[in-house]
Amino acid sequence: MGINSIHEGMEAIEETLHTIVNSDVDVLQEASQHIISSGGKRVRPRLALLAYLAAGGEDLETAVPMAAALEMVHTATLVHDDINDHSLTRRGKITVHARWGNTFALLTGDYLFTKVYELMAPYGRPYNSIMSDACIRLVEGETLQAAAAKAGNMDRETYKTIIAKKTASLFEAGAEMGARLAKADDEIITALTEYAYNLGLTFQIVDDILDIIGDPETMGKPVGADLAQGRGVMMTQNGGKTLAQSNTKEHETAVVEAADPVQQMMAQLRSSGAVEIARMQAIETADRARAALKKIPTSPAREDLDNLITLILERDK
Ligand code: IPE
Ligand code: IPE
Ligand code: MG
Repeated sequence: MGINSIHEGMEAIEETLHTIVNSDVDVLQEASQHIISSGGKRVRPRLALLAYLAAGGEDLETAVPMAAALEMVHTATLVHDDINDHSLTRRGKITVHARWGNTFALLTGDYLFTKVYELMAPYGRPYNSIMSDACIRLVEGETLQAAAAKAGNMDRETYKTIIAKKTASLFEAGAEMGARLAKADDEIITALTEYAYNLGLTFQIVDDILDIIGDPETMGKPVGADLAQGRGVMMTQNGGKTLAQSNTKEHETAVVEAADPVQQMMAQLRSSGAVEIARMQAIETADRARAALKKIPTSPAREDLDNLITLILERDK
């Protein structure tokens, strides 16, 4: 029969994610189920399934393991990222390292990564290399970010390179694999890949804006983290200075009374127009995504991909 609706496709992905992480080792079982059951927007697998449909694919079952693998990469990186960022909440719940400690969080992340091999194994080439290439870029992006934050040189160019690698890479890979699985022509594959790349950039810029203006309750994760660690789009408005480095006179005279330096800088950025500049950058990449999408034939899935741009631009979590 196969799977024809996006709703059923997403249900199949949930089922796959939950089943594949089962382990006889209690900590791996519990910590994996903890992060997977805590939800998340599932943007990447949805994008991959929609790209498959928009490219003319007819049985979503073909794309489900690949889309689940994308979410698995993402989930593994979140578990590791939260260790590096010292974050205590994720998806509205306690983070894996806060609950089980760093050792088990590292191992849980590793475990989730190995599940990517398992899910991708049946696909062969070129799918495995598209996925591994995206994973390489993601790790490079996270590493460049940590290095730039440490050196205090987060300029606009570096920021763009980082978000392209750490976030847009997975979006891009999902759309490319989806379109290829649907046996689409090269022009369609290229258009969907270009769409997803720009959607990924938009997604990360909006995420960095939400780090300044978002509500931690709604988002289910801390805010102010990027600033505190000298990264994110706002650092490009701050001349790449980290919080410690920017503790100068101009900041002392900021229109804020908050005692906490992170809160102070957030308030200062909110009143400085920096958020509006970042917002314009997000709108620009969103427009590029929309233009790329126009190159493929109209369909309900193309409509959904178009709506996804708006949802991402206007999201509050
Ligand atoms: C968070 O990704 C990490 C970024 C790339 C900004 P999501 O916002 O997709 O996280 P979940 O999966 O919905 O929790
Ligand atoms: C999350 O990045 C991990 C990757 C994008 C690979 P961030 O640190 O920017 O995202 P949050 O704010 O923790 O979700
Ligand atoms: Mg983080």
